[in-house]
Amino acid sequence: MAIQLVTTAAQLRAESARLLRAKGGSSQGLVPTMGALHEGHAELARTAVEQNDVAVVSIFVNPLQFGEAVDLERYPRTLDADLALLDAVGVDLVFAPEVQEVYPGGEPLVRISAGPIAGKWEGASRPGHFDGALTVVAKLLHFGLPGASGGVELPAYRAYFGQKDAQQLALVQRMVADLNFPVQIVAVPIVRSADGLALSSRNRFLSAAEREAALVLSRALRLIEDRANANQPLDLESARALVESQPLVELDYFEVVDPLTLEPLAENCRDTPFRGEALAIIAATAGPVRLIDNVPLNS
Ligand code: PAF
Repeated sequence: MAIQLVTTAAQLRAESARLLRAKGGSSQGLVPTMGALHEGHAELARTAVEQNDVAVVSIFVNPLQFGEAVDLERYPRTLDADLALLDAVGVDLVFAPEVQEVYPGGEPLVRISAGPIAGKWEGASRPGHFDGALTVVAKLLHFGLPGASGGVELPAYRAYFGQKDAQQLALVQRMVADLNFPVQIVAVPIVRSADGLALSSRNRFLSAAEREAALVLSRALRLIEDRANANQPLDLESARALVESQPLVELDYFEVVDPLTLEPLAENCRDTPFRGEALAIIAATAGPVRLIDNVPLNS
């Protein structure tokens, strides 16, 4: 394996500087993950490899963003398989710290407050989740910041997030803009299985019947997307009814929102033809798994 594994921030800094110097590189990309990697993460890593001289992936299951201790314990840990996948994609460096390395003083007293966007959709059923996620993202972005590699200019610094977690992506973009982090956030489109299901580390907990039922989410989103592309009224109600007709799936929300503020765009959902830019977002549960998915609308 050519890929290197480091577990401390000091090793990460030293190794990424060494790699940048060795490659005469001028850019570094970071992909923050919690491991249990699938093809969606591989796509993030691949994009980081293509766009940067040095590509780093972090693997850290962040206790701060889990509500229930049982969810944290149940989160799959698959480091060896993760390393093999990242090695195959061409990632240079994996940063997999212990909790003690990231939170040496225990739970941080000072955290990122994710603000009003975090209170809705996913945040409504997971209080504190986005404060915890943004706090660790802020730390990881600092850990992964490349130093000067011999030249006068600092290397370009990019970080990669999946569009699947649309609310997380919007919040990370907002944090980076509002707090002037020296990093460019790159959004990478959702990767789906051939039948349309958005890939997720939690899909492994679906039974065969639940997995089949879960396909109704991407089907309903496709309905909305087709109507948007045809400049028709979105008729969200009928798409909602389709999801609700599936007995193994319990719908939480299905909305059409502004992609930046995540506020609902109610007028586009009824009688008027759809125009403009929006995001259709959906969340539901199937068995033990919370499913989220979305599709950008652009007309
Ligand atoms: O999307 C995730 O996997 C996590 O929320 C992240 C961004 C790695 C922070 O822990």
